[in-house]
Amino acid sequence: PLKCKIGPSILNADLSQLYVESQRLLDNGADYLHLDVMDGHFVPNLSIGHPVVKCLRNKIRTAFFETHMMVSEPGKWVEPMAEAGVNQYTFHIEPVKDVIPLCRKVREAGMQVGLALKPGTGIEAVRQYIDHADMILIMTVEPGFGGQKFMGEMMPKVQWLRHNYPGLDIEVDGGVGLNTITACAEAGANMIVSGTAIINANDQKAVIASLRETVES
Ligand code: DX5
Ligand code: ZN
Repeated sequence: PLKCKIGPSILNADLSQLYVESQRLLDNGADYLHLDVMDGHFVPNLSIGHPVVKCLRNKIRTAFFETHMMVSEPGKWVEPMAEAGVNQYTFHIEPVKDVIPLCRKVREAGMQVGLALKPGTGIEAVRQYIDHADMILIMTVEPGFGGQKFMGEMMPKVQWLRHNYPGLDIEVDGGVGLNTITACAEAGANMIVSGTAIINANDQKAVIASLRETVES
């Protein structure tokens, strides 16, 4: 299996200290940061946008930033996010009419392309776009909030992708922690987003290390 990377989601961190919290996650072993962007329209919640990401980038120069764009018009934020220093722009395909031109736009802006699927979106919806993407994100909760229950029934989507695309980066997001990461890794996911399981832990470093050990043993 591919080596797994652990990307903590900062959504449920103390956002008044976004930089401190983010740096701590990186110091504690995070491989990258998963930054959840919500517009109150595609999902029933608001979070952060490109001005905040840019401030974070000014303080954290080298870490890999992925933005998970839970927004109705992902085409609008490509340039602002690239300017803010985002490395990977992961957008949901559900609200997008022309996915391929948007993939091109993201790459032309200098970012990697992630394509995200809500739980209700079947794998057939993304097949035709996989060659234009660097990563596919299979949501394992309904996007919008941290701390929800992991949906194991999404694993066949991960399995299908891994079977057909052995070298593809496949990410899971939602309810992933020590009890659920094994299912994800066995299905073939190699990028693991984990929010509350890490953020709420007393010992973040130990939890990140255990997550890694669990999938590497
Ligand atoms: C949910 C977000 C997730 C969330 C994960 O809409 O996309 O990234 O913060 O949090 P947990 O791991 O607590 O489900
Ligand atoms: Zn997310």
